[in-house]
Amino acid sequence: MKRFHTLPVSLFCIYVVVLQCLHASAQAPSTLRVNAQRIHEHLSALSKFGANPQGGVSRVAYSDADLQGRNYAISLMKQAGLDVHIDASGNIVGTRAGSDASLKPLLIGSHIDSVPMGGNYDGDVGSLSAIEVAHVLQEKQITLRHPLEVIIFQNEEGGTVGSQALGEGLDEKHLNLVSNSGKTIREGTRIVGGDPERLVSARRQPGSIAGYFELHIEQGGTLEREKIDIGVVEGIVGNGRWDVTIDGFANHAGSTPMNQRHDALLAGAKFIEAVNRIVTSIPGRQVGTVGKIQAIPGAYNVVPGRVVLGLDVRDLDQEKIDTLFSKMRNEAEQIGQASGTKFSFHQVVADKPALTDPRLRQIIADAAKQLNLSTKLLPSGATHDAQSMARLAPVGMIFVPSIGGISHSPEEFSRPQDIVNGANVLLGAVQRLDSQNW
Ligand code: GLV
Ligand code: MN
Ligand code: MN
Repeated sequence: MKRFHTLPVSLFCIYVVVLQCLHASAQAPSTLRVNAQRIHEHLSALSKFGANPQGGVSRVAYSDADLQGRNYAISLMKQAGLDVHIDASGNIVGTRAGSDASLKPLLIGSHIDSVPMGGNYDGDVGSLSAIEVAHVLQEKQITLRHPLEVIIFQNEEGGTVGSQALGEGLDEKHLNLVSNSGKTIREGTRIVGGDPERLVSARRQPGSIAGYFELHIEQGGTLEREKIDIGVVEGIVGNGRWDVTIDGFANHAGSTPMNQRHDALLAGAKFIEAVNRIVTSIPGRQVGTVGKIQAIPGAYNVVPGRVVLGLDVRDLDQEKIDTLFSKMRNEAEQIGQASGTKFSFHQVVADKPALTDPRLRQIIADAAKQLNLSTKLLPSGATHDAQSMARLAPVGMIFVPSIGGISHSPEEFSRPQDIVNGANVLLGAVQRLDSQNW
């Protein structure tokens, strides 16, 4: 009697335990994977918006292509079950409730605007992978403990505009800057559905976010060269950008003798050479670039009266950026005196170096290890939204290899499997962070 009574009970217990195990293993971080085919279909579809004949995209912020790309991303976010809104600063935010309302949100995302004549991977890989993470969670009906926010920042290439709006906020100086599309950030923010008069409502308080993860292509050649699957970013360099205006005197190119010219373009050429010389005069990984030049009026037969250059200086050490810039400024003064021209500097970007959070680095490394992927700790020479987010929250960045280290070019390429690896590490990292109480 006893036997007949206990056997079915024990069988039932075993059945329940097995069921629980199956359920638990279905939800265990290690078994969940992104849908590789879906990510690639989405990347390919996004690359149509602003496609350029060279095979990349020209989807500068606030252009029609940017708007089309954003609408496409919004549709993907909705398919992924996210509640989507555009915040007052023009970022696209998709939210997913967590099971514990007392926990702070966990953010993942990137950007989909490009540089002029850009490629198909910078920003897009991280944005679409973040959406994919949400999509997988929805499909598997997994509710994280933390609320999840997928965020696509507006105008990253114009100076991490959307992420700065969340942190330090945008002031009049920012709003009046003219972006690559020719529109000011104020105009552009309206165009993408934000409201420059209500920017304060988009701000987040430091400490109000549990963590921010961003997946991105490396944009350098280290991972590919060393055959490493995943880069764990240790920090993002600081970035100073200045508009350098050189005022000379516009005059007739045929009748003005060579010794009576105040040629702003010639002074600019000397300055460009000086930037390169100053940056390379000391050891280190610092970089300095003049990547933009406008000669006014810009005609064969006029000695240029005014030139505007775009100067960009980067390093992990802010002091080094400051020292290099002050040397450049001194040399500009000397060039100006010798050529009868006048240099003025207007700073347009002042992103400070940002370190990633050691706990999030470890989470990324663990997630990669679980997938049998090799990792390397490395700095980021490119600017990212994670840099502004580091002022608000612990941040972690995952890099995947860029073939040939090429980026900001139509030639930019990352292998499909590397992208999927990165997306799986992002998914694993989200689950790991979710299992912790911060
Ligand atoms: C953005 O990609 C930058 O590094 O300029
Ligand atoms: Mn970029
Ligand atoms: Mn980018």
